[in-house]
Amino acid sequence: MDERVQRIDEAAAYIRRRIGDKIPEIGIVLGSGLGKLGEQIDAIEVIPYVEIPYFAQSTAIGHKGNFIFGNLSGKFVCAMQGRFHYYEGYPMETVTLPIRVMSSLGVKTLFVSNAAGGLTTAFRIGDLMIIKDHINLLPNPLIGKNMAEFGERFTDMTVAYDLGLIALADSLADELGIDVRKGVYLANSGPSYETPAEVRFYVTIGADAVGMSTVPEVIVARHCGMRVFGMSVITNISNTTNTIENLNDGDDVVRVADAAASRMSTLFAKMIEKL
Ligand code: HPA
Repeated sequence: MDERVQRIDEAAAYIRRRIGDKIPEIGIVLGSGLGKLGEQIDAIEVIPYVEIPYFAQSTAIGHKGNFIFGNLSGKFVCAMQGRFHYYEGYPMETVTLPIRVMSSLGVKTLFVSNAAGGLTTAFRIGDLMIIKDHINLLPNPLIGKNMAEFGERFTDMTVAYDLGLIALADSLADELGIDVRKGVYLANSGPSYETPAEVRFYVTIGADAVGMSTVPEVIVARHCGMRVFGMSVITNISNTTNTIENLNDGDDVVRVADAAASRMSTLFAKMIEKL
């Protein structure tokens, strides 16, 4: 058997022993400073990543490192409070392992979130952006022998972000009085922030926001056949000129994310109620 699949099976089996026969059909990935939604879950189990076989430690700031299982908006869900990034030095297999484990546990719909830099001049700090598409400048996590147990060799990405979920988010945001934008998320490796020349390049190729995560998880989720909904919290505006004001700072990112996290949590919770 494929050793990668064995590792996924072992991690999933460990979690199943902890949660019993409950099946989470909805998975949530909470990004930098966005762990708040995790507190709204009526948890039956909070499993630190260190306890799960083959899971890495989350070392990024603002990332807690727990897999939470419990009830949210009347549904049994699992939520990752913190994720693994490629820039932490983990291979893509490790970065995306939790998504494959979620799939093995029965997750069919994935909500992903992140903190991102705003590229579009119309964006403001604290804006919420529904991800309508992405540009991947990270290595593709599906490189290597195809894991046929999960999906096909060539994964279609024409509609990576589920149109029904985007429409649901739009209408509920309207009802709740929450302003949302829509845009294209570009993933680069980090951990250095973008140079102004890179920012201008990313704008030119059609990106609205830039970050260092999410896309590997989305690609693997699509490989597994999950429906995906993604949201970025704009925590800073990317600099297009080489001026020394507004230098990027990881602590700023976490502080702003915290304030916008409650609006995002409200929207996610309402969407999950309607699924
Ligand atoms: N660039 C990359 N990643 C980020 C940013 C940014 O400006 N803000 C938050 N995550």
